[in-house]
Amino acid sequence: MSMRDDEMVDLAGDCGQTADPLKLLVEAQQHLIHEIAHELRSPLMRMQAAIGLLRQDPACREMVERIERESVRMDTLIEALLTLARLQSYPESIQREPLDVIELLTEITENAQFEAGLKGCNVSLKTCPAFVSCVSGELLYRSFENVIRNAVRYTLPGTTVAVSARINPDAGCLNVRITDQGRGIANERLHSIFQPFERGMSEAGTGFGLGLAIAARAVEIHGGMIMARNELSGGLTVEISLPCRA
Ligand SMILES: Nc1ncnc2c1ncn2[C@@H]1O[C@H](COP(=O)(O)OP(=O)(O)OP(=O)(O)O)[C@@H](O)[C@H]1O
Ligand SMILES: [Mg+2]
Repeated sequence: MSMRDDEMVDLAGDCGQTADPLKLLVEAQQHLIHEIAHELRSPLMRMQAAIGLLRQDPACREMVERIERESVRMDTLIEALLTLARLQSYPESIQREPLDVIELLTEITENAQFEAGLKGCNVSLKTCPAFVSCVSGELLYRSFENVIRNAVRYTLPGTTVAVSARINPDAGCLNVRITDQGRGIANERLHSIFQPFERGMSEAGTGFGLGLAIAARAVEIHGGMIMARNELSGGLTVEISLPCRA
């Protein structure tokens, strides 16, 4: 508080000097992720071709199936990493088109219903009239799908995942809420789950912890917001809002 003006100027200068190298470092890191993901993809493609050949030998069947599962998992990881790198480094390259977000939500919910049915659960949908905006259908589909599939994974057997969409005319945005009836998450993780590779201890071997990081970046690129909160009755709500002019 008692800092002199010249000290303040020095400090401001220092901050100015560290801002640029820091930005360069972040950019270099994002570039590196992009390069690594690309480099990993070529040997993986060759591996998959070799698997195709090995498959023809019945003696190798079990081993081949294992290798195949692992390679599909690696492929999924690389694809997610490339998407995240693209969102972070080249947001301007995202293609947009006028699209009804409600139609998109309806389709995702119907698809999720099948997965939910396998554990005796339901996905209910309460929508509003069409909400047409200039968006990336691919990215929003992926974002909503991840949140809804997470909810289906964590909701307790026999319960319902509620998806609701409401247009807020005052704020000029669409609010989408996805609420499950699971156990929710520890309060200190409510923000960090949107960071890459942040996943629960028991999730090793299932997801990569990239779904919400991609969703957060995609929603942000559309000028929207995403947040998570625990319900008093148990379960997690993830809320996504998108502006009318995304
Ligand atoms: N509805 C939910 N209830 C409880 N925990 C959740 C819920 N949704 C997400 N989480 C927690 O947040 C973590 C991150 O979710 P995220 O979707 O990013 O990754 P993932 O589902 O584990 O993997 P991926 O989406 O990359 O396949 C999850 O691993 C889980 O620990
Ligand atoms: Mg997920």
